[in-house]
This record gives sequence, structure tokens and C-alpha cells, in this order.
Amino acid sequence: MKKLAGEKAVEHIKDGMILGLGTGSTVKYTLEKLGELIKEGFEIKGIPTSMHTKKLAKECNIPLTTLNENPEIDLTIDGADEVDSKLNLIKGGGGALTREKIIAYHSKKEIIVIDDSKVVKALGIDFPLPVEVIKYGWTLTKKVLERFGCNVELRTIVGEPFITDNSNYILDCEFERIEDPEQLEKDINNIPGVVENGLFIGLVDEVIVGSKQGIMTLEKEVFP
Ligand code: A5P
Repeated sequence: MKKLAGEKAVEHIKDGMILGLGTGSTVKYTLEKLGELIKEGFEIKGIPTSMHTKKLAKECNIPLTTLNENPEIDLTIDGADEVDSKLNLIKGGGGALTREKIIAYHSKKEIIVIDDSKVVKALGIDFPLPVEVIKYGWTLTKKVLERFGCNVELRTIVGEPFITDNSNYILDCEFERIEDPEQLEKDINNIPGVVENGLFIGLVDEVIVGSKQGIMTLEKEVFP
């Protein structure tokens, strides 16, 4: 299902585009398919959202550039951990949320690729909200986050703190559900020590969902 969605998104890529390259196991299929297009003569440049994606893109022979060299991103294709009916997201399961949000913010179009298990009624029910924090004073930052009524855990990998590509920690915040994602995104980012949080509000244009029944596309509702 991830493969279905990841490969479908490639249909939106046009010759000559500057592309934001998301992170995760769904986008992996996008990158592999894009590699085939490049073999056929497509000329694009990609801006990776993580060291992991940079490595994968190189393996797929995708030419790379940076946001500073090419600030006009035509299209970004990325994954997500949860998507609600307003196309707001939780991201950061892979720890790449800060770079992913910078790229999403500067993209003319943001397409998300997921399998249908990621579509939720309310954000935060199934997936903890990742928050990237600097190491300095992180236990105090954690205490402030707990005031929002969530259970906060330092992300670890084989017993050691997980370190992001920006050399920071991730605090995973487990909510029962997130009632007001728009407000929470701002409130969390106001805490000193917080670099960025995984709530993506109003940044997405289209979501491609792979399911057993096939592919479904969710688009932003346009209110009159
Ligand atoms: C990376 O930090 C995340 O935001 C990923 O984009 C997200 O976790 C989706 O990953 P999968 O496609 O592997 O589920």
C-alpha cells in the first residue's frame, strides 16, 4: 500500500522541477521510481529532508541541490504518521520533522504519501507528537511539555538517546487526542529549547492514500 501511494506521486513530477525529497519508508518508493525517470532523461534536482534521504537519493542517482542554492521548490513529496480531515499532519516518526517542515513551508506544492492506516479522526490518538529540542536543559523543556497534559518520553535507540540530523533530541508526547492542533503547534514552539514540533498545519495540498482497494486522493477543501 505504501508502494502504491509512493509510486503514484511520481506522476506529479515534471521535467526541470526542483523537488523536495521527504523521508520515510513510503517516500523510498517515490525515490526509486524517480530514479527510473532520471535514467530515461528527466532533469530534476532534489533537496533531501534528511541524511537518510540524501543517501537513498544518491543510490537512486537523483541529482541533489540545497535550499540555499535553489530556494524555489516546485513540489515536495513526503510521508506522514497521521493525517486528519483538514489535511493537517503529525510527522517526525523518523525524526526528520524540522527539515521536513522547512521544506514543506517553502514548497509551492506539498503532496503526502501514506497507507490508509494513517488517516485518523483526530491527531494524536494513535501516534505520539514528536518534538525536537536542544539538549541543553532538555529535562526542563520536558516538564513544560507535560503541562499540556501529555506523557513525554525521550526518544531512544538501542538504549541511547536518538540524535537528529541537527544534533538534537526528540521528545515524544503522547496525548489522548489533540483537540486544537493549530493552537498547540504555536504553543509548543513558544517554549524555549524547542526547535520544532511535528504538527504540520495548513502546509499540505494533496494526500495520496494507498489501500487494499487501490489509490484514493484527499485534497484540501476550498471554502468559499
Ligand atoms: C520522518 O521524520 C517522518 O515524518 C516520516 O515522513 C513519517 O514518519 C512517515 O514515514 P513512513 O512513510 O516510513 O511511515
